[in-house]
Amino acid sequence: MTLNRRTLTAAMAAASLTGALPLSAFAQKKIVLGFAQVGAESEWRTANTESIKSSAAEAGIDLKFSDAQQKQENQIKAIRSYIAQKVDVIAFSPVVETGFETVLREAKAAKIPVVLTDRSVKVKDDSLYVTFMGSDFIEEGRKAGRWLVDKMKDNPGPVNIVELQGTVGSAPAIDRKKGFEEIIGKDPKFKIIRSQTGDFTRAKGKEVMEAFLKAEGKKINVLYAHNDDMAIGAIQAIEEAGMKPAKDITIISIDAVKGAFEAMMAGKLNVSVECSPLLGPQLMSAVKDIVAGKPVPKRIITQEGIFPMEVAAAEFPKRKY
Ligand code: AHR
Repeated sequence: MTLNRRTLTAAMAAASLTGALPLSAFAQKKIVLGFAQVGAESEWRTANTESIKSSAAEAGIDLKFSDAQQKQENQIKAIRSYIAQKVDVIAFSPVVETGFETVLREAKAAKIPVVLTDRSVKVKDDSLYVTFMGSDFIEEGRKAGRWLVDKMKDNPGPVNIVELQGTVGSAPAIDRKKGFEEIIGKDPKFKIIRSQTGDFTRAKGKEVMEAFLKAEGKKINVLYAHNDDMAIGAIQAIEEAGMKPAKDITIISIDAVKGAFEAMMAGKLNVSVECSPLLGPQLMSAVKDIVAGKPVPKRIITQEGIFPMEVAAAEFPKRKY
């Protein structure tokens, strides 16, 4: 019979209680965590993967890691394979919000707890996952909106905005749009004149910005990019079009990765709203608690700030990603 961690722990406890064997007679079995990552689409994601891998090693957790290459079907396959391997806990950052109900039910039926990190899912039954840890993406969108409203307070408008959205159907793309619109929607001078996905990548950000510039040219006053990578791609497109990023076009993005700080220090990006990818330590401690049968909060929100270009040089040396 193969023992999974839970049956082994129960067997150990029973044997030691009856005095049959001391606890030390059993070598501690490592916790096995299956993690299904979104992909490697951005600087943020690379830092997130690194945080998860290094924290697992530090915590002595046996990590099985897979990269879904931004495809939901790959992620579902990876989760199914973790169920088949009877891992102790499954964690994943869902590529998109919907379509995970069936596989989550399969994990529940196999009694494998699931942790959502970074992005959440839309499910009717929230007992399908134990906890969701990560940022408040709506608030990130609001922070971007508030910064813009303040920056444009003396501008009578119209303020024409182009928006580079994240991956279609993903929680950060949906929520960052929602939060931003909630704030700028209070003043009709703000107008989103174009909005399209750049799939969170530099290459796509550049390509879509080129199309925006071709269609709208000098009418564009502001670029709101749902992540830094798309903003950095777009900056290239703006420069190639003979315009000055952060001067001719005000640029706001989200993540606050090192690449964004470099762009701010070069005077090419106005502001970046922080979204921390350093979720590894929190994840490992939740995994240990879950396996030990301790309660964990249903929602763990990451605390984050906002960095305008004026503070970039002073903050840069302190950045960890
Ligand atoms: O889910 C977090 C988002 O995904 C980050 O903002 C983005 O850079 C990443 O790819």
